Amino acid sequence: DIEIEVDTLKILGKSLTPPFDITPDTNAGEELRLKYRYLDLRRPDMQKNIILRHKIAKIARDYFDSQGFLEIETPMLTKSTPEGARDYLVPSRVHPNKFYALPQSPQLYKQILMLSGMDRYMQIVKCFRDEDLRADRQPEFTQIDLEMSFVETDDVLGVNEGFVKKLFKETLDIDVEIPLRRMTYSEAMDRFGSDKPDLRFGMELIDISKCVSNSEFKVFSGAIENGGSVRCIKVDSKDGAPALSRKEIDALTEFVKTYRAKGLAYIIVEENGLRSSVAKFLREDEINSILKETKAQNGDILLIVADKDQTVYDSLGALRCHVASKLGIIADRYEILWIVDFPQFEYSEEEGRFTAKHHPFTAPKDEDIPLLDQDLEKVRAKAYDLVINGCEAGGGSLRIYNSELQQKMFEKLGFTKEEAWSRFGFLLEAFKYGTPPHGGMAYGLDRLVMLIAGCDPIRDVIAFPKVQNASEIMTNAPDFVDKKQLDELYLSLIPNDKKTD
Ligand code: AMO
Ligand code: AMP
Repeated sequence: DIEIEVDTLKILGKSLTPPFDITPDTNAGEELRLKYRYLDLRRPDMQKNIILRHKIAKIARDYFDSQGFLEIETPMLTKSTPEGARDYLVPSRVHPNKFYALPQSPQLYKQILMLSGMDRYMQIVKCFRDEDLRADRQPEFTQIDLEMSFVETDDVLGVNEGFVKKLFKETLDIDVEIPLRRMTYSEAMDRFGSDKPDLRFGMELIDISKCVSNSEFKVFSGAIENGGSVRCIKVDSKDGAPALSRKEIDALTEFVKTYRAKGLAYIIVEENGLRSSVAKFLREDEINSILKETKAQNGDILLIVADKDQTVYDSLGALRCHVASKLGIIADRYEILWIVDFPQFEYSEEEGRFTAKHHPFTAPKDEDIPLLDQDLEKVRAKAYDLVINGCEAGGGSLRIYNSELQQKMFEKLGFTKEEAWSRFGFLLEAFKYGTPPHGGMAYGLDRLVMLIAGCDPIRDVIAFPKVQNASEIMTNAPDFVDKKQLDELYLSLIPNDKKTD
């Protein structure tokens, strides 16, 4: 747009020819972009994301400051505590054979700050979790973390709704209506097969168990007899169901198998009859009852899974999003809601015991406390998640603030008294000095930026992200270290010639 008349020209820094075009829609692969991240970050879309990230962090600081929150730093070198994801460990030079853990979140420190009388705490803080990466997960990520004293759930949600409103107004000029809608966990599972339902499209789960409970077709009736269910989603003809080919439906079967479903049955309603993988196994009255229950019309497709409830939810919940994205029926808007009344526990097949659904410091609902001695599966927690467009943007809970109840919770989670005191003694002890009722939550900052930028994957909103195998391509971390460094740390290595990079 401007013309320059050159007087003198002095080259301050020469450049090689860049390995890819530094343009908005570069066709460079992500690996190349990450290797030359310093060049990739020059691209306008990356700059936009980084600027947006700064802006969101600033809005958070300003907003929570205006509400009386203090930003307080908590340690990065901490004690490893069981529960949750795997820790990243840091060996101690001064204490041979002992390790620090990098924090998975500042959970216990922020609770202790409440009993120190800090009243309202917030921090924009790095968290570390050694877990399998997904499109919206990084091994180190950033939380907007907060905690408040003398609160009930409505107080925490109310303050945070103010934040969400300000955030969307100042970044996207969108007026979010508050209070946000709330949906119980059980409604979310029942209707969407997910505790982070995407409300930008329909295709809700339909329970057809009662249509086939006496069926000769054992895949269906057997699942129900075993305590499970038969459910389906209806792909509507006006959403483009007829465009799904037989081959594509077969691919959907493979898709649900990754969620442990054993199969996917389909019924395609056509002008002159049905096409179905299971019609030949079902009686006419059973089929009619399914069609009636689902209100299936000409051109619609029913995709059916029979299994344990959890498997049905997981597979149909994921299938619903997969099909919606494939058919391009996801509306261009933000759907924001709270999920509340989470179960306190979930059974871990892997560990053969109940684990905390949120974390062990979450308070159970008062009326469910007696159930701790009767039926752990039925105990509901004072926990809540903020879900934006099918993504868990944040989550938190009211906490246990009583040493006895906290000890009982550890016991229910399978810790012996000794283990509980050895790991969490500082907390149990602290709770004996008059603890205010407290609660809070944490947002995934990276996820918030990703959602507001409307981009995917999470790596695009992080200046120097890690890739699938938790390495950072530009610097090549993690890497080997010198023997001298290991000796100082009293560490010796088990050789592994299969170096993964
Ligand atoms: P939670 O484990 O639910 O709660 O984490 C809070 C939020 O952090 C984000 N998040 C992640 N983002 C990117 N990569 C990850 N690996 C990752 N893991 C979590 C999510 C999530 O909602 N201390 C509690 C909060 C509390 O109870 O106050 C906690 O950490 O957006
Ligand atoms: P089969 O009797 O195993 O050949 O299965 C007959 C049909 O039922 C096939 O279309 C399968 O995909 C489908 N099917 C098998 N298991 C399930 C299941 N658990 N849920 C839904 N459909 C299934």
